[in-house]
Amino acid sequence: MAEPKKTATLSFGNTSIELPILTPTAGPDVIDIRKLYGEGEVFTYDPGFTSTAACDSAITYIDGDLGELLYRGYPIEQLADKSHHLEVCFLLLYGELPNAAQMEDFERRVTRHTMVHEQIHNFFRGFRRDSHPMATMVGVVGALSAFYHDSLDISDPWHREVAAIRMIAKLPTIAAMAYKYSIGQPFVYPRNSLDYASNFLHMCFAVPCEDYVVQPALAKAMDRIMMLHADHEQNASTSTVRLAGSSGANPFACIAAGIACLWGPAHGGANQACLEMLREIGTVDRIPEYIKRAKDKNDPFRLMGFGHRVYKNFDPRAKVMKESADEVLDLLGVHNNETLKVAKELERIALQDDYFVEKKLYPNVDFYSGIILEAMGFPTSMFTPIFAVSRTIGWISQWKEMIGDPTQKIGRPRQLYIGQPRRDYVGVDHR
Ligand code: CMC
Repeated sequence: MAEPKKTATLSFGNTSIELPILTPTAGPDVIDIRKLYGEGEVFTYDPGFTSTAACDSAITYIDGDLGELLYRGYPIEQLADKSHHLEVCFLLLYGELPNAAQMEDFERRVTRHTMVHEQIHNFFRGFRRDSHPMATMVGVVGALSAFYHDSLDISDPWHREVAAIRMIAKLPTIAAMAYKYSIGQPFVYPRNSLDYASNFLHMCFAVPCEDYVVQPALAKAMDRIMMLHADHEQNASTSTVRLAGSSGANPFACIAAGIACLWGPAHGGANQACLEMLREIGTVDRIPEYIKRAKDKNDPFRLMGFGHRVYKNFDPRAKVMKESADEVLDLLGVHNNETLKVAKELERIALQDDYFVEKKLYPNVDFYSGIILEAMGFPTSMFTPIFAVSRTIGWISQWKEMIGDPTQKIGRPRQLYIGQPRRDYVGVDHR
């Protein structure tokens, strides 16, 4: 990190503290408050981390005002158009695009790890069949540390590398198994002759009694969904992975923590919630009623797939996703799709409405992704698991970056205590 050239002065009471201002390669300056408590005996207060950088990172950059997303400096639109998910995985994990030999080697290493330990099949069988696939994924990914003892030593770079490759390779297999288990079909083993996205579709939709041929255009759309979700800097689930990892927890446990966080409807669960909302709206004429509800302070209803903590402009991923939705529905011969019609009209109306304009609420990545996944044949319960499969590379890259950072400390936020001051215990007879 560059030496700070500017400082900020914080004064309160008789105290005045000079704080260094750090300058990032892109984005606003950052006031370094690390010595604040030591010198000033005060904390800062920032629930939800709206103004706090919790780490430095060289992986992903978002300009929320411009609506720009860069992976290692490369714009997401260029990657979505020209790259593929495994290449993006290499880029996020190692920092540079691979040359042909590096790509071949990486693909070989990933495909060598796509199967899961056979005993995991039995582990799955302990779950109820009607469990949400996210519930089984949290459990199974957390349990990987019980199966892969040879990649748990986080102080060993080789263990970290093997754990990363295992996670990239096995998460699609586990998500597909969670799906198969929930619909009562046999697990389908990975096929290493297929590319990453095709293999995932194959494991989800093939059955032993007949051939299943993956349509290349659908595999391409799936691959693009994976790239668009691959990383998003310090979002809630990534911060969860970092916080869990900061204590020295093993990588499988950390990714399981990330999956648990992702499940919430304000985060990765929004894609399922969004499609359910679009279905509930049902027809274009009912949109005004839902817009009215979203604006009503006394109604907890929110337009799912709208708004973002960082983007105050179009989410660039939503633009690509919208184009993909048109392409996929066209390819599958789905014309006059009512849900897509509702989505487009809802977007049009919301973007003209003062409430959404003033609050800078735009469609986010989840607004169109569900329409594509549904057209491909996925039930809504699989939308968030697919997000988890795609985000695995972001989580593991951020975890690896954190573990490799010599200044890394255990994450330990402070608090503004508003409970009772010290008081004496009162026996039960006197309460
Ligand atoms: N519908 C209606 N009003 C909204 C919405 C929405 N979707 N999102 C934000 N607002 C309003 C909110 O009521 C608040 O109004 P006021 O200032 O009057 O209190 C204002 O906009 C700011 O909202 P906030 O909740 O303080 O903003 P945040 O940065 O904490 O929340 C968010 C961001 C994504 C959680 C929120 O916009 C939301 O709940 N959106 C719907 C869920 C969703 O689509 N989530 C997916 C996010 S993208 C993928 C991912 O990260 O996983």
